[in-house]
Amino acid sequence: MSEPRPVAVIVLAAGEGTRMKSRIPKMLHPLCGRSMLGHALAAADELGPERLVVVVGHSRDEVGAEAARQAPDVHVVVQERQGGTGHAVRTVTEALGVVPGIVVVTYGDMPLLRAQTLAALVRAHATAGHAVTVLTALVPDPSGYGRIIRDGSGALAEIVEEADATAAQRSISEINTGCYAFDGALLADAVKRVATSNAQGQEYLTDVVAILRGDGHLAGTVLAADPAEVQGVNDQVQLAQARRALNGRLLEDWMRAGATIVDPASTWIDVDVTLAPDATIMPGTHLEGRTDIGPGARVGPGCLLRNTSVGPDAMLLYTVSESAEVEAGATVGPFARLRPGTRILAGAHIGTFVELKNSTVGEGAKVPHLSYVGDADIGERANIGAATIFANYDGVAKHHTTVGAHVFTGSDTVLVAPLTIGDGAYTAAGSVVTEDVPPGAIAVARGRQHNAPGWVEKKRPGTGSAAAAARARESAAAAADAPARETAEGNEGTQA
Ligand code: UD1
Ligand code: CA
Repeated sequence: MSEPRPVAVIVLAAGEGTRMKSRIPKMLHPLCGRSMLGHALAAADELGPERLVVVVGHSRDEVGAEAARQAPDVHVVVQERQGGTGHAVRTVTEALGVVPGIVVVTYGDMPLLRAQTLAALVRAHATAGHAVTVLTALVPDPSGYGRIIRDGSGALAEIVEEADATAAQRSISEINTGCYAFDGALLADAVKRVATSNAQGQEYLTDVVAILRGDGHLAGTVLAADPAEVQGVNDQVQLAQARRALNGRLLEDWMRAGATIVDPASTWIDVDVTLAPDATIMPGTHLEGRTDIGPGARVGPGCLLRNTSVGPDAMLLYTVSESAEVEAGATVGPFARLRPGTRILAGAHIGTFVELKNSTVGEGAKVPHLSYVGDADIGERANIGAATIFANYDGVAKHHTTVGAHVFTGSDTVLVAPLTIGDGAYTAAGSVVTEDVPPGAIAVARGRQHNAPGWVEKKRPGTGSAAAAARARESAAAAADAPARETAEGNEGTQA
């Protein structure tokens, strides 16, 4: 049997979210790489509704734009004033007309709700032929929620809001989650008859249950298997709880698929991250955006990777990376920074305190220590000496550097772009290279060394340096006087 498909899913997202105490609209707060609203829309969209509708009010432009970003086919309906959940749904039925078929209502601030839970609600609703089916949950602390009131036969009779409930009703621990499946035509009629004679003076969607029962229709419930899923987010504490729960769920899925997560408590991943079997994620690692970790790769401790692909058996340690590729067997870090457009080809090594941007490091090449590589192509098996700087920016424009295969740059080389270093060429330590170097040549571009003998004793008399120089001069003179004795006693120097 094919799954029943709702004609519409209505996501309520007009509320203000004052308890967040944030200038970011509540629905737009991110968790695991997606806004709260984005999670709700993704779950709604998985039901394959003919129409996906979002009701916006507070911060409508930002919330509406985010809805369109997450679900391009979404219908955005504006609720001018927040007259209650019933009013929100009435705004939709009045704007879109009566839609015969199953209509699902859910919230934009319930990011843990799984699509399969909504699908089970829709299935139960379609099978039973109810006018309304309510997703309910059993919670240890039902305060703040609407309570599920049953009649003598145990059938759903009505939902009573906390503010309107009697003490006996408040002791009921089965609550309304706020997710419903309705008969669309009956819903459109019933929301028109919802009154505002309640403690909050609002049009309660929950009143539709009693209205439909009064009309002689059947109402049912589906109990959520996992009450954590229907936990709404109203403040920053609940946002953090939801984020941890969602993160834990994503990590569990990847562990079941074969990834090793050494410390789930300190590992954070976004919904679009993928981890291959035997990828190992070490503590304190954040994987964001579209980041893919290959089989056998080891990431962390202490990595922040965004939109980065890591090939099989590569290793990254204390690395920050954005929009970069690290190929098979390459090693990066500790303390490396890969900026957008960086490609580290197979078997290459990036070491300590190295920053790269818009550059390709060839197969087996090494940039081991303290370097900046910007706008460059480095050939295979090249060795970039400690503190080599690719000077790519002249203050106005960026320029490119090409370094050939098997090139060896001496420590503290500055490569002033645009520049080409031919295959197999060398640069001398401390060189500032401004002209192309032909293949196989060595570029020496530094001042020649000049020693002024005796300068310190003359110009810095009385210092420790002058005294040390004097001692060295005297012992050299003494050694020159007794060459025979030195030879007889042998050389007592050390060898490293
Ligand atoms: C609602 C339910 C309650 C249920 C609880 C579950 C009603 C009357 N009560 O209470 O039974 O236990 O949810 O969380 O429905 N919204 C709009 N427009 C409005 C009012 C609300 O779009 O005019 C949206 C909000 O943005 C939010 C959702 O509807 O996403 C729920 O609104 P909220 O005010 O939080 O309802 P509760 O009082 O918590
Ligand atoms: Ca709420």
